[in-house]
Amino acid sequence: MIEVHQLTKRYARHEAVRDITFSVKRGEIVGFLGPNGAGKTTTLRMLTGFLPPTSGTARIAGFDIFRQSLEARRKIGYMPENVPLYEDMRVREYLKFRAQLKGLGSSDTRRRVGDVIDTCGLQSVRRKMIKTLSKGFRQRVGLADALVHDPELLILDEPTNGLDPNQIRQIRELIRQLGQSHTVLISTHILPEVEMTCNRVIIIDNGKIKAADTPANLTQRMRAAGRIQVEIQADPEVVAGALHRLDNVKKVTPEPLADGWTRFTVWVDSGTDARERISHLASQYGWPLRSLFSHVATLEDVFVELTRRD
Ligand SMILES: Nc1ncnc2c1ncn2[C@@H]1O[C@H](COP(=O)(O)OP(=O)(O)OP(=O)(O)O)[C@@H](O)[C@H]1O
Ligand SMILES: [Mg+2]
Repeated sequence: MIEVHQLTKRYARHEAVRDITFSVKRGEIVGFLGPNGAGKTTTLRMLTGFLPPTSGTARIAGFDIFRQSLEARRKIGYMPENVPLYEDMRVREYLKFRAQLKGLGSSDTRRRVGDVIDTCGLQSVRRKMIKTLSKGFRQRVGLADALVHDPELLILDEPTNGLDPNQIRQIRELIRQLGQSHTVLISTHILPEVEMTCNRVIIIDNGKIKAADTPANLTQRMRAAGRIQVEIQADPEVVAGALHRLDNVKKVTPEPLADGWTRFTVWVDSGTDARERISHLASQYGWPLRSLFSHVATLEDVFVELTRRD
């Protein structure tokens, strides 16, 4: 549904997006994740035809977004970062206006506006002026606008930005429902949002793609490369030395606890597990051991690991 090939965007001096390549299959809900300034909005604006790339190509449903812009755009429902709404229009009137602008005829307009008002839960405010709406309802109007021409693909730039926790849940639920019948690319820096709604995550930082995988695989990969925690009651230097001599152990950090116990964090190579060998070691030397587990990585660990600046 989306094919991005070696896309680059250079602003005056700054390279905001650098040679990124990725694709999104029909039916996927993909999270586009990255810290502030990573290049998310820049990428999405290129994908939706609003911003010409410096180099590279993007295809939507097979259509080149710049050479076949009209056909490509018809497939896309785009909700920008700050939804520009006409404050002095009423909700239904605004959506009708947008539908006509997108080239829908009058009977299609009537039908589709009715549909998206239902889908997006706008019944109760359809006659209200946009300027009187809460932020949550404004986001719904933005989503309804993105949906009105019945696109196959939704591209949403931080759709829950600035909402309160209840509104976030409602919008997230709505997006999940829409994901059953649409392909969705959604940019965010809210991690639980991605874990709850997306089948796949693309992590971007500093204009480059750092990872693209399912949330489960990303955290799994992290876990494999992860760390083990063990508490042993013996001379910390002796224990640390012995742990360090085990195969696949990269680093050991001791942390003193009460009553002669020490908590050791053991960093191991990816794809290896040293728990059994640690337990053998302790029984071999007769060290009292309590608690031995490998740290369960979260998507947040992955994100921090891939995008930290130190
Ligand atoms: N019109 C512009 N002119 C010059 N630089 C820009 C322009 N728009 C964005 N940038 C820069 O490009 C980089 C990427 O910006 P972008 O808005 O794509 O990031 P983002 O990932 O969407 O961030 P956020 O999470 O804050 O929305 C930033 O360093 C930004 O300052
Ligand atoms: Mg942005």
